[in-house]
Amino acid sequence: MLGLETSCDETSAAILRRDEILGHVILSQDEHRLYGGVVPELAARAHLAVIDDVVREALDEAGVGLGAVDAIGVTAGPGLIGALLVGVCWARAAAFALDRPVVPVHHMEAHLFAPSLENPEARPPFVALLVSGGHTLLLHALAWGDYRLLGQTRDDAAGEAYDKVAKLLGLPYPGGPQIERLAREGDPGRHPFPRPMLRGGQSPDDPDYLDVSFSGLKTAVSTRVAEVAHQGKLERERAHLAAAFQEAVVDTLVSKTMRAVEVTGCPRVLMGGGVSVNQALRQEMTSRLGDGGEVFWASPRLSLDNGAMVARAAAFRLERGEVAGPELSARAALPFPGLVE
Ligand code: KG4
Ligand code: ZN
Repeated sequence: MLGLETSCDETSAAILRRDEILGHVILSQDEHRLYGGVVPELAARAHLAVIDDVVREALDEAGVGLGAVDAIGVTAGPGLIGALLVGVCWARAAAFALDRPVVPVHHMEAHLFAPSLENPEARPPFVALLVSGGHTLLLHALAWGDYRLLGQTRDDAAGEAYDKVAKLLGLPYPGGPQIERLAREGDPGRHPFPRPMLRGGQSPDDPDYLDVSFSGLKTAVSTRVAEVAHQGKLERERAHLAAAFQEAVVDTLVSKTMRAVEVTGCPRVLMGGGVSVNQALRQEMTSRLGDGGEVFWASPRLSLDNGAMVARAAAFRLERGEVAGPELSARAALPFPGLVE
């Protein structure tokens, strides 16, 4: 299986034989650095410039030619439409030329599959916390392809909050790793930030019991940054602000996941998406889940956007006969397959 990922700012291709990764290339675009965020048009152009070479290098690493590929899996959404189209058009053209099936993949379902590439135990049933730059989802996976939505963000995604707060603190994009590094030197107690949608006395019947929201937290950080800057203390307080923000995000995400574990009675937790790389989040999740639970995540390379997870999800979808016709297109807001609200 050849897996292609071009939904945002990584161009990636992987060759899988079942769960074994034979070749895997991930190229992160650098052209967005100047702008403090991903510029969609630049992303699409950069994918187009490198996709042939990225696939060729993955094939070389695997020691096979394109003719050895049985099927092509590609992220068809959600994501930036111009960026997605590069992968989808490449996949369609190659599938036509080789007379092989093309399998459309949902980017967030691919994140669900990533840990299973390294650990065969990382399979349903589990409660999944998917935290990326564009999405924050809490779901109950009963089986592969059979998902119940438990909660989601009402506004910003967790990664988006990291990226925006990083910008407020004058840190470059992507903000997640920058804030994590700075937070290690800070005292989270110096700036008490709110825990969004986390109040005492909430009951499972409340509509926001399992949802999250990060825009209020972002505003609280922004207000505090302005106050501290006005007092001329921003440089001195930056690490403390980063630590306090991160503590609020981690506490919120872990508390909501613990509620999901309680509601479902399922103590197996899987974390996926770029923010799941965060060490503070991983530690807090492991410690709050305790000995009675299990937590799964992928190595950083497979947690961030990559083609291997796309190939793995595509293999599952292909097994179910889900092959696209030549009319396949990309969808910026593709619905999550098998997810029941
Ligand atoms: O899954 P991903 O690679 O791309 C999307 O599907 O969006 O996630 C990227 C997001 C970015 O917002 C980035 O800031 C965040 O993941 N991220 C992190 C860390 N590494 C990446 N957030 C917190 N801590 C990290 N160490
Ligand atoms: Zn992603």
